[in-house]
Amino acid sequence: MCGIVGYVGPRFAIPILLDGLRRLEYRGYDSAGIAVLNPAGEIEVEKTEGKLKKLLEALQDGGPPGFLGLGHTRWATHGLPNEVNAHPHADCQRRIVLVHNGIVENYASLREGLLARGHKFVSQTDTEVLAHLFEEEYDTLAKDGYGVPILPEAVRRGLKRVRGAYAIAAFCRDEPQVLVGARLFSPLIIGLGQGENYLASDIPAIMRHTRRAMVMDDGEVAVLTPEGVAIRTLEGEEMHREPLQITWNLESAEKGGYPHFYLKEVHEQPQAIENTLRGRLDGNRVSLSEWAHLDLSEVNRVSIVACGTSSYAGLVGKLLIERWAQLPVEVSVASEFRYGAPIVDERTLVVLVTQSGETADTLAGLRLAQEKGATSVALTNVMGSSITRGADATIYFQAGPEICVVATKTYTTELVLLCLMALDLGRRRGLLCEAEVAEVVEELRQLPAKVELVLKDEDVLKEVARQYGHRRTFFFIGRNLGYPTALEGALKLKEISYVHAEGYPAGELKHGPIAMLDEEAVVFAIVPQSDTYEKVVSNIQEVRARRAQVLAVATEGDEEIQALAEEVFYIPPTLEALTPVLAIIPLQFFAYHVAIERGCDVDQPRNLAKSVTVE
Ligand code: G6P
Repeated sequence: MCGIVGYVGPRFAIPILLDGLRRLEYRGYDSAGIAVLNPAGEIEVEKTEGKLKKLLEALQDGGPPGFLGLGHTRWATHGLPNEVNAHPHADCQRRIVLVHNGIVENYASLREGLLARGHKFVSQTDTEVLAHLFEEEYDTLAKDGYGVPILPEAVRRGLKRVRGAYAIAAFCRDEPQVLVGARLFSPLIIGLGQGENYLASDIPAIMRHTRRAMVMDDGEVAVLTPEGVAIRTLEGEEMHREPLQITWNLESAEKGGYPHFYLKEVHEQPQAIENTLRGRLDGNRVSLSEWAHLDLSEVNRVSIVACGTSSYAGLVGKLLIERWAQLPVEVSVASEFRYGAPIVDERTLVVLVTQSGETADTLAGLRLAQEKGATSVALTNVMGSSITRGADATIYFQAGPEICVVATKTYTTELVLLCLMALDLGRRRGLLCEAEVAEVVEELRQLPAKVELVLKDEDVLKEVARQYGHRRTFFFIGRNLGYPTALEGALKLKEISYVHAEGYPAGELKHGPIAMLDEEAVVFAIVPQSDTYEKVVSNIQEVRARRAQVLAVATEGDEEIQALAEEVFYIPPTLEALTPVLAIIPLQFFAYHVAIERGCDVDQPRNLAKSVTVE
């Protein structure tokens, strides 16, 4: 949901800002813009509607030289995604300029007041209000003789009048060495360089320049100069922060020869799973040190809270925890959880699953868990992300950066992590014996190699996508552990191909959607060897009787299924608990190649953003 970058130092800011924005474009791509302080001491702004490419074209000549600057890539909330509404935004005097990620909830009343006091607005955004607020505070402070730099204090005072969420980067024409950052409920990190410093929404934007970063906390304002960084709270209390070392490598944030990040990330899954398992398998046992300190002996229920793909991983987690740890598990979509009346108390374990660690609704789920006194565990891929603050324990996927807007390797690594947690819980509760754990651990070790085998089938899927990709309706069906796979397979197709697709429990199809089936419809059946194999086969028969085309994901060696499906995609035999990790891969490929067939933008699908920091 919008990406922001900022730079202050001895180098020309524009190339640094543009490179940062390129790596943040996954956060939004409705418009893009930059502002720099030029040698004449004027703020120069360049902004364009649409993707970053347009801004790069507009700045082909390199743009104005300047050593202080900020940039933005937008996912529109208030105001159309046009050039006027694109960030950066400035005050009336074009003295202060800023970029913003988040929502100013009380912008209407603030704007009314500012208009009454003579301020003039040019855009429909909530963000512009911030520029005018800071201007007002700046003028008052200057009049009172406040010593320079004034902007940090003006920002602090201005933000005290704001309700909502923000990550902000701002600078002032009259303070050429000062970049100000602030955050509340939207991510912002500080990159620490030698004689230069950076602000960014996310780590990949600064990885090229530095491996040392500080994560800002909610309610903090940072002042960056080339020489250093000072952080204070909105109340003015000085804060000390230990820098963290970024361990991701730069290549992992590049396409590495693949046409799209999506495809690269699908192919990275064996390595990503290997990384998720690294250090967490100890002989025949699971060793999850990150939550070992939690006393879970009193826990009597589990609540998994997540959005989108992560919520589907949560459904698999539920089945495994119920199976191995015999605890009742509820999976809630975070946007519903926060406004319902969930049964959560001191004996509930709340598991928050979010690859970005920044999804606003999931963060609200964490706050609700805290209010109710539950034990909270965050599962995320992003170091230092908001969800890690306040959770009683954080367990990282260790999947490396995922740049494509839609989730692939973070989904399969979420599955692996939830499997480890379910095993560990089962063992801690004395419900799994060593041999049972050892059997799963052994299969987990083989999982990366098995994923590798499934990846070899890409060409077959490409051909099938060519054959079926232009159909109008797709159903994905599965039972038990196959059902979340059906949901995720359908979601992938919707997200990147804009094709109507529904994931359904196979047994439920006959209670309504079967009415939609005819020879035009395509039904993807998830039918690996499992306790429900025969039941799904019966459902396939029902589908065939309505003349729909059947494509199947099945276990190697299953020949019976060939007579029932137009095409079968095989996955290697594994424990039923791990089949979701393998079964999703053909569906990831299918969605990709349908998207290519249809000429869709795979890495940046329309209307989506990777990190949804608004409700
Ligand atoms: C967005 C993305 C989805 C993702 C969901 C949850 O909608 O487009 O791909 O599944 O957010 O994201 P999270 O970071 O919380 O896992």
